[in-house]
Amino acid sequence: MKHGILVTGGAGFIGSNFVLDWLGAGLGPVVNLDALTYAGNLENLASMEGNPGHTFVRGDIGDLALVQGLLEKHRPSAIVHFAAESHVDRSIVGPETFLRTNIDGTFTMLQAARKYYDGLEGAERERFRFLHVSTDEVYGTLSPTDPAFHEETPYAPNSPYAASKAASDHLVRAWLHTYGLPTIITNCSNNYGPYQFPEKLIPLMIANALAGKALPVYGDGQQVRDWLYVGDHASALRVVLANGRVGETYNVGGGNQRTNLEVVTTLCALLDELVPESKFKPHFQQVKYVTDRPGHDRRYAIDARKLEGELKWSAQESFETGLRKTVQWYLSNAEWVSNVTSGAYQQWVTKNYGDRTAVAGTAAAGTEGAR
Ligand code: NAD
Ligand code: TYD
Repeated sequence: MKHGILVTGGAGFIGSNFVLDWLGAGLGPVVNLDALTYAGNLENLASMEGNPGHTFVRGDIGDLALVQGLLEKHRPSAIVHFAAESHVDRSIVGPETFLRTNIDGTFTMLQAARKYYDGLEGAERERFRFLHVSTDEVYGTLSPTDPAFHEETPYAPNSPYAASKAASDHLVRAWLHTYGLPTIITNCSNNYGPYQFPEKLIPLMIANALAGKALPVYGDGQQVRDWLYVGDHASALRVVLANGRVGETYNVGGGNQRTNLEVVTTLCALLDELVPESKFKPHFQQVKYVTDRPGHDRRYAIDARKLEGELKWSAQESFETGLRKTVQWYLSNAEWVSNVTSGAYQQWVTKNYGDRTAVAGTAAAGTEGAR
């Protein structure tokens, strides 16, 4: 028999990829609780319309009565908790919602889960898991020569976003140790792939390059991120749910460390190749170095050997194959992009980029200010 799960934030980027993956593989019904903030989009789940295995509920993870009611009604075998405010730049401009959703919201989820779990017996109780989806940003920043983050790396969050996720991880840990809630935490590196909101580096650069707009590289563009294709994140979460040990943390990463400038260069080359008729070719000439993000972490890198060794997970996409798939997806889904980049999105772009002055790049001098 297949047991249902409750997913939070399943209309967002990673959540919707996970839900599509889960339902596509016929792993059991999903109740999807999402507030549909600017980042949540039911269009991501359009292919699930009419699928009796998918129940969408619009609501806030901070609504205790709602979450408790859903747990009692649907009796899921797991909660997969994605819902969060997720964009570092937004957390710098307005940290309040990050504290409310990421900390208070997770607290509410834990309280509801605890009450539900206390009422479970036998196999249902044995089976239940609370899987908390977190980020590598809780570990802070690395120098170029530091070893990659591992599960015992001390927490040192530097942005309001990272601090709020770190706080939520600590709550999850406390609910395990104090109340015996069977929790597991995953800390994942930067994801990319279909359905990512074009405020994040990769989809923003694709959208801007195709529209002939500036490609805003923060600071010198030498910051390093460890990129993971979102489908590989979904498969990691599946194996953690199936075989992960209660109380453990698993780091998830693709082993693809790239500087931001390398990412933008690769993206521009892919666009030059895949859109040969583009009047903005070569797209790299649109790169514009802009004022750096305050408190910008220099480097993230994930050591995923625990997940790979213990649970036999491995990423299927290389950065090159994953990025090509991603660019192709955005090219084939221009309508999705134009639907999510109207209205509130335009206001955000003005707010975040309006005050950033152009600065001379040190990494690739001569490419700055092409537009
Ligand atoms: P996202 O911003 O694309 O989606 C977040 C979703 O949560 C949206 O659908 C939104 O409507 C929903 N949501 C927000 N506040 C809510 C609330 N109060 N109640 C109910 N729903 C709410 O985020 P994402 O990139 O898909 O990230 C998902 C999770 O993975 C987050 O917890 C994030 O911290 C974590 N994570 C993300 C990355 C990444 O690279 N994107 C990497 C590691 C970990
Ligand atoms: P982002 O996608 O916001 O993820 P995170 O901050 O969680 O790592 O940014 C990835 C990197 O790209 C980060 O170092 C900031 C940088 N960046 C830019 O240089 N320009 C941009 O316009 C954006 C959105 C990000």
